[in-house]
Amino acid sequence: METEKWLLLRRDQVEEILEKYLPAEEGDAATLLSAMNYSVRAGGKRLRPILLLELCRLYGGSEEVASPFAAALECIHSYSLVHDDLPAMDDDMLRRGKPTTHAVYGEAMGILAGDGLLNYAFEIIAGALSDMDPSVLPGGIRAFSILSRAAGAFGMIGGQCVDIEAEGKEEISDGLIDSIYHNKTGALIASAMSMGTALAMAHAEDIDRAAECGYALGRAFQIRDDILDVTGSEEVLGKPIGSDERNLKPTYVAMHGIEKAQEEVRFQTEYAKSLVDKMPGDTEQLRALMDYLTGREM
Ligand code: IPE
Ligand code: IPE
Ligand code: MG
Ligand code: MG
Ligand code: MG
Repeated sequence: METEKWLLLRRDQVEEILEKYLPAEEGDAATLLSAMNYSVRAGGKRLRPILLLELCRLYGGSEEVASPFAAALECIHSYSLVHDDLPAMDDDMLRRGKPTTHAVYGEAMGILAGDGLLNYAFEIIAGALSDMDPSVLPGGIRAFSILSRAAGAFGMIGGQCVDIEAEGKEEISDGLIDSIYHNKTGALIASAMSMGTALAMAHAEDIDRAAECGYALGRAFQIRDDILDVTGSEEVLGKPIGSDERNLKPTYVAMHGIEKAQEEVRFQTEYAKSLVDKMPGDTEQLRALMDYLTGREM
């Protein structure tokens, strides 16, 4: 199947799963719940849950078991975007083709919606773990522990810290830029792949390989994101162009130029695909997805 069509089918599947978990907008904090839902429902590629479900499928796991973890991961990813767009961070007003959450609901509600989504993600997982069949519960606990670390100070949030502190520096070491990409973007993408693998009760070495593959893919994904911040179209991308330059971010593109950056996107993608070659089952769509992402425009 053509990759774009496959992605759309998978995106619809993820959105159906999300709808099952999103909270009702009622009670005294209805505004908060509405802001949370607004940011998750705004759209997006749903790449992380798609990867989680695909890895679980490859390793012979159950979609029903993986679904709440996929929903939780997308809640955390959406929260990371809501906070990333806040005035104190990247100060962006457009996300997923719509006004950012703080632009619609105000800054305080943007902060709270992010906090709310992070906690809600773990509430979804706690519920899933308590209902889980004992035969797959160890995989669920492993996935829970992978996500807790990937989302936090030793993963995405830590990466965002280094990203913000690097603003205004004309040049930073390749090591520091690696650390930013590894954590701010790699951690959640790697967690998607390794959680899916863990939920299928695969061996530890398979979980580690999935994570390594996700880190390479994450690095490629973020460098492509930095390229699109320069060459992309706001209409297609659904977010502002030139945000990195305005915020004086020392990205891979700013330091090495677009051509070398795209070369690195391809290099990391080839490495990720070489790890996919060691995975079981029909990996054709996963490989095609990785190739597709190297030239993505959104
Ligand atoms: C945006 O992620 C943030 C980065 C890590 C570059 P996505 O490009 O996956 O955003 P959505 O979910 O499709 O909106
Ligand atoms: C942010 O990277 C990654 C996150 C952890 C949210 P960017 O700041 O480049 O993401 P965009 O371009 O705003 O989506
Ligand atoms: Mg940012
Ligand atoms: Mg940003
Ligand atoms: Mg960006």
